Amino acid sequence: STQRTALKARAAELLKARGAVLVAHYYVDGDLQDLALETGGCVADSLEMARFGRDHAAQTLIVAGVRFMGESAKILSPEKRVLMPDLDATCSLDLGCPADEFSAFCDAHPDRTVVVYANTSAAVKARADWMVTSSCALEIVSELKARGEKILWAPDRHLGRYIQEQTGADMLMWNGACIVHDEFKGLELDLLREQHPDAMILVHPESPKSVVEKAHVVGSTSALIKAVVEGTAKEYIVATDNGILHRMRQLAPGKTLIEAPTAGNSATCKSCAHCPWMAMNGLQGVIDCLEQGSGEIGVEEATRLKAQGCITRMLDFTA
Ligand code: 13P
Ligand code: SF4
Repeated sequence: STQRTALKARAAELLKARGAVLVAHYYVDGDLQDLALETGGCVADSLEMARFGRDHAAQTLIVAGVRFMGESAKILSPEKRVLMPDLDATCSLDLGCPADEFSAFCDAHPDRTVVVYANTSAAVKARADWMVTSSCALEIVSELKARGEKILWAPDRHLGRYIQEQTGADMLMWNGACIVHDEFKGLELDLLREQHPDAMILVHPESPKSVVEKAHVVGSTSALIKAVVEGTAKEYIVATDNGILHRMRQLAPGKTLIEAPTAGNSATCKSCAHCPWMAMNGLQGVIDCLEQGSGEIGVEEATRLKAQGCITRMLDFTA
């Protein structure tokens, strides 16, 4: 831990010296979240990360999260240098939606408005009309439905189903899932809530239906944090990546946070609900970015120009 303190101080010094800003997601290591906040950066959900990176004056963005987050930052700010602690940090949703297959799916349904989740590659976004994140998907799909548009949705089937149920929109779905949220289990959650009858249940919409239907609040990472801060309950069962508990504890120190059950965490594994790709981000990676210029994100210009449209449309709609 003295080593961690030293690494953190070194990273802070380098961020300042290089005029760089750290943009972190709530699922990354707590030290990185703290570092971001202590140095004028942000800890945020994916929508806020995109907006923050675009609007910040710094010419170097260090994006601590997974690859699509770095790509979105680069797509919105091609003139900035965007660096990531580990370029191998991907996402099962992105991996499960290859651009060529997705493109063929779009070609087969030319009458549909293409709406993709943020958790996709730049090449997939280049085929889309709209990008959405979990914090604005409901709002945007409701609007599209009101306009009479039929939707082609990719890639998260759980988020897609939730949005479909809430809005009644006509949605043709890609069959992808987040490996972290897909593990939350409805039956085990029932048992847990019997032990904690007054607990408020907070669920990220990438979770299965059996879990979402028991939620008091369904929302993006930022929405779930807000629910803990503002909630009147003493106990909260949290069904999302447990990296989020760091910020929840800081902002709501008096409240009891309980991790929602996954298939494994009762017996073998205490914290299955943590994304292996988010976990690749560390202080040393941030230092390497700043000292060596490692982890630079590049997006080919033709793809970038096409992908920019769907992200900008979302940012304008939610402004
Ligand atoms: P949000 O932070 O937008 O809720 O997204 C969660 C996520 O999937 C990041 O991996
Ligand atoms: Fe992707 Fe799930 Fe990891 Fe988020 S938590 S980056 S959705 S695999």
